[in-house]
Amino acid sequence: MAAKLPIEVVASDGLLLGMSAEDFLRDYWQRRPLLIRRAYPKFECPLSGDDLAALAMREEALSRLLRYHRRSGRWTLSHGPLDEQDFADLPQTDWTLLVQDVDKWDPDVAELLRDFQFLPSWRIDDIMVSFAAPGGSVGAHVDHYDVFLLQGLGHRQWAIDASGKADLGYRDDTPMKLLRQFNTSHQWLLGPGDMLYLPPGIPHHGVATDACLSLSIGMRAPAVAELLGPLLEEHAQRLGDEARFTDPGRGVSADPSALEQVDIDRLRAQLGQSLTALQQLPDDQLGDFFARFLSQYRQAQQPQAKARKPSLNSMEKALARGKVLVIPRWFKALRRLNEPEYLYLGGDRSALAEEAINGLLSSGIDYPIWAQLNPAYRAKLRELLAEGLLELRR
Ligand code: SIN
Ligand code: CO
Repeated sequence: MAAKLPIEVVASDGLLLGMSAEDFLRDYWQRRPLLIRRAYPKFECPLSGDDLAALAMREEALSRLLRYHRRSGRWTLSHGPLDEQDFADLPQTDWTLLVQDVDKWDPDVAELLRDFQFLPSWRIDDIMVSFAAPGGSVGAHVDHYDVFLLQGLGHRQWAIDASGKADLGYRDDTPMKLLRQFNTSHQWLLGPGDMLYLPPGIPHHGVATDACLSLSIGMRAPAVAELLGPLLEEHAQRLGDEARFTDPGRGVSADPSALEQVDIDRLRAQLGQSLTALQQLPDDQLGDFFARFLSQYRQAQQPQAKARKPSLNSMEKALARGKVLVIPRWFKALRRLNEPEYLYLGGDRSALAEEAINGLLSSGIDYPIWAQLNPAYRAKLRELLAEGLLELRR
């Protein structure tokens, strides 16, 4: 069955994925690459190379400039913020400018994410945008997350190795992780509006054939290693001081200076019980942990607490004048389906009225929503505003 699935489709009938989201998720998501020709048939790129360069000059934006020196075969990487001189010094070919989190900076780029709502928003990390001079590339590499590589301007030649037999060893002479070896199983020239989906672990190499801009919609999932630390820490707190290493029925020590095998076995058994208890945490607790974790995972900026806590009165006045309370784009917010009266934001769970949460997760809380809220909910919103997790916007 699987062998018959095409690796290339032409999107028609306005289907971004060239098929229904259900079919895509079943057959391709996390499983196999897919080239979607004309995913956006008349794509209008929401930003230009100059826009990207301007962003790369900002202190707070995460940018990198990567150059390949053809003669020596060396790669050099510099981190932003970049300045006019960095750009003036660039040759005609063989460089790439990359900026992460462009969706947080540019509302038109963020708009694209609406088309990916077949995935929950917490599963989407960012839109990274790259601008490459002819010959520019980030080298052959492999990513550990799903990515939709959407061609914005110009053309890029993508090669992938979908053989499943790739050697994933890295070179040790480059400033980023590049593959020592790369074999091509498929290649395509992408033009504006074409999109290549890659699941994690597929080696790929994209080279600009003319000056080109590419948008990478990245779905970076948390590593188990990232989840385990905080999860175990919370578990340890629940266990408290009383749960201890135990050794009833201990035999006489053969060597009082030694740790014996029997004690390692006891530890193994006791850890096993503890990890089983962790795995069997009720859905409510594990779901709460996961939602809190996700609500601050890879937050694009740290919230800046206000020097002075805004008064309820000033908030009310601002809202009455037409402002709305919104979650800045830097932050991730989510809710759990079975708990409509809690909002997860900035690593915490906040009790709020459902209408307020609906507002915050869409266009914001306006005066009519605010007017219906009880004092406790208003106080909570005031706290979130003071912590910098909300803002009042026109
Ligand atoms: C690029 O946009 O140049 C690289 C994106 C990627 O390979 O993930
Ligand atoms: Co990549």
